[in-house]
Amino acid sequence: MFRKIALSAAAALTLAAPAAQAAGEAGSVTDYDFSFEGPFGTYDQAQLQRGLQVYTQVCASCHGLEHVPIRTLTSETGPGMPADQVRAYAEELMVADPAANPDLIDPDTDDLRALTPADNFPANESQDAPDLSLMAKARAGFSGPYGTGLNQLFKGMGGAEYIASLLMNYTGEDRVEAGAVLYENESYPGGWINMAPPLYEGAVEYADGTEATEEQMAKDVAAFLMWTAEPKMMERKQAGFTGVLFLTVLSVLLYLTNKRIWAPIKARAKDDG
Ligand code: HEC
Repeated sequence: MFRKIALSAAAALTLAAPAAQAAGEAGSVTDYDFSFEGPFGTYDQAQLQRGLQVYTQVCASCHGLEHVPIRTLTSETGPGMPADQVRAYAEELMVADPAANPDLIDPDTDDLRALTPADNFPANESQDAPDLSLMAKARAGFSGPYGTGLNQLFKGMGGAEYIASLLMNYTGEDRVEAGAVLYENESYPGGWINMAPPLYEGAVEYADGTEATEEQMAKDVAAFLMWTAEPKMMERKQAGFTGVLFLTVLSVLLYLTNKRIWAPIKARAKDDG
């Protein structure tokens, strides 16, 4: 029985490895460094704010972020923006696709009303571009859900790396297929994506003075999208750490209690022997 289980476990492990490789072959993903990697990694507030700026000025015209409440931009473990700044941001936010956001239309005037921090980011369906709220978790980069789980613990699933790589790895080639222009991209599974390269040097002017190189913007917006997909990552890591600490202390106490309970019996056994 045990042999059988051990054999099938071994078989499952060896079968899982090629599957992981096959998933990796879909496109090349660069292992960019992010501040939130590792068991104690945290989001970099300044980077999330820059990423928000890239999203707003470049990506929002095509991509929605409909699952993300605007008020969460104040989150201390997220972008940490002051409340008045978030209110001003919400008021100025453009709604690219009014038809996809009926709740933002004022029933009296039929016009779009201004957004408030209580609203979510607008949805956008007009360009056939997927919503980005959860994209960083929907896409695994180099460490998909395979293997022992250690890579995921130390490097994450690579969703942010995938997004940054996707934005960086256009080859410049394009072709028309069934009336749609497809752009060659080394990170996109299949190699041809229906999204024109969105970034170019200086596409945004960063409020904090950081130089807006293509790679800087790609990494910043990828980090921001990791946060939208997993806003509680810091809390989760902390809860995990507390759990491990608690279990360690508990194990030591149990070990000592166990020794103490059995001490008289052991002493008696020695006497008898
Ligand atoms: C001109 C419209 C447009 C803009 C601007 C745009 N995208 Fe896209 N994006 C698309 C479309 C369309 C798709 C779907 C592509 C496909 O299915 O081939 C897409 C797909 C994606 C995907 C999913 C890829 C996958 O694995 O399925 C990601 C991630 C993405 N875009 C990120 C971004 C980011 C980040 C920005 C801003 C820096 C951005 N996009 C700007 C149109 C756009």
